[in-house]
Amino acid sequence: MKQKTTFLCSECGYESSKWYGKCPSCGAWNTMDEFKEAKVTAAPRGTLPKTDRRTRNKPLEIAKIQTQEELRFHTGISELDRVLGGGAVRGSFVLVGGEPGIGKSTLLLQMCQEMCRQAKVLYVSGEESLRQIRLRADRLHISSPELFVLAETDLEEIIEETELLRPDVLIVDSIQTIYKSDLSSAPGNTTQIKECAMTLMQYAKRHTVTIFIVGHVNKEGTLAGPKILEHMVDCVLYFEGEKQVSFRCLRAAKNRFGSTNEIGVFEMSDCGLIEVPNPSAAMLSGHPMDASGNCIACTMEGSRPILAEIQALVTKTAYGTPRRMSAGVDYNRMVLLLAILEKRVGLYLSSSDTYINVIGGMRLDEPAIDLPIALAVTSSYRDQALPEGVMAFGEVGLTGELRAVTAAGQRIHEAIRLGFTTCIMPKQDIGRMDIPDGFRIIQTDNIAQAIGAAFGRQ
Ligand code: TYD
Ligand code: MG
Repeated sequence: MKQKTTFLCSECGYESSKWYGKCPSCGAWNTMDEFKEAKVTAAPRGTLPKTDRRTRNKPLEIAKIQTQEELRFHTGISELDRVLGGGAVRGSFVLVGGEPGIGKSTLLLQMCQEMCRQAKVLYVSGEESLRQIRLRADRLHISSPELFVLAETDLEEIIEETELLRPDVLIVDSIQTIYKSDLSSAPGNTTQIKECAMTLMQYAKRHTVTIFIVGHVNKEGTLAGPKILEHMVDCVLYFEGEKQVSFRCLRAAKNRFGSTNEIGVFEMSDCGLIEVPNPSAAMLSGHPMDASGNCIACTMEGSRPILAEIQALVTKTAYGTPRRMSAGVDYNRMVLLLAILEKRVGLYLSSSDTYINVIGGMRLDEPAIDLPIALAVTSSYRDQALPEGVMAFGEVGLTGELRAVTAAGQRIHEAIRLGFTTCIMPKQDIGRMDIPDGFRIIQTDNIAQAIGAAFGRQ
């Protein structure tokens, strides 16, 4: 039987029978890798052994399917449990992606501490020696005698050891370092990654083992990895953050057992990752009171309101074309808001360089941050600080109108809790809520009015 050869984009997983220099789907250059499908030795029709016939899956009416409470392991890290949808489901296949050095191994090793009490855990590392893992575990104060560790990169060996040990939870760190010896390509290659992940997934489902795999991602996309695995796993978690900033955000990009909107916030310290149960307070620490160019936004991350500081710097352009730069917010959204400010409010921004940054390395991608971005830009442009205790949220439309956002009540509640005194927001129903004396809610129709209310008219 001839082996079928296909080409796979390591960026987006696009599959084709031809090689392209530029991926037709995502436009990335030089990302098409050759992928040889493993030979399948299927039994000819009608020759299924009798036992298989008996255990073969049959269609069943949905109402007759027996359901039991999903069995979940608690990870002992409540931020991680939340992102997983209440713990790791038994027999699920979870991918933890992120840039090298962001803290994936640390997070998973810390998770072992509590999981060991409920289940047998095997941590397989293809990147570190047993000694290195032990040293890291000591630093993280992990001292469970029930935690098994294996330093191995050959997948067949890993599976063999796993079959002998029969753990309930298997961690493979990382998918880019393990390989199947019957494939000719090098570890980290698209073919290896896909085949190894497929073998592990089949193992997870057959033996009801919860498997966590680590996948490195890099910004340039030169590493094949998590993207091509997303469709095959039950749950994809991305660990993000700026390496220079200690905050880390864990996000679910896909979750078959829970919501994908939840995030977990951590801080990297000397002795591992520390949960941040009150991210708003952490994000706002060090917030300058009297400086121009910043505004506090309230964004919803899943069911959780988080206050974050958005900073803007508007300076005169030294070159012909103005520079725009954004960190933590979408670049195109920022450019759009600058155009709206120019047209609807009359700020002359086309001869100014504009930089936007979200403090703490957070990434905000919700329309409700439009208004605080606009207020931060205006504040820097006028070199006038917003009054103390002001926060804002609201989507800005192309005509400059302010549009309603979801969960306004929760956002206001969070602002009250953290001691803010004024909330500038769109005209919308906020439901029934107790507003304390001294807390002002200013609802406006459009961005010009909101700016007027925030700074006082000029
Ligand atoms: P690591 O978990 O090895 O990253 P990944 O597995 O995603 O590649 O994290 C490595 C970084 O974390 C490294 O730069 C050092 C830092 N770190 C700490 O600051 N404190 C700690 O206790 C540990 C274990 C790591
Ligand atoms: Mg690692």
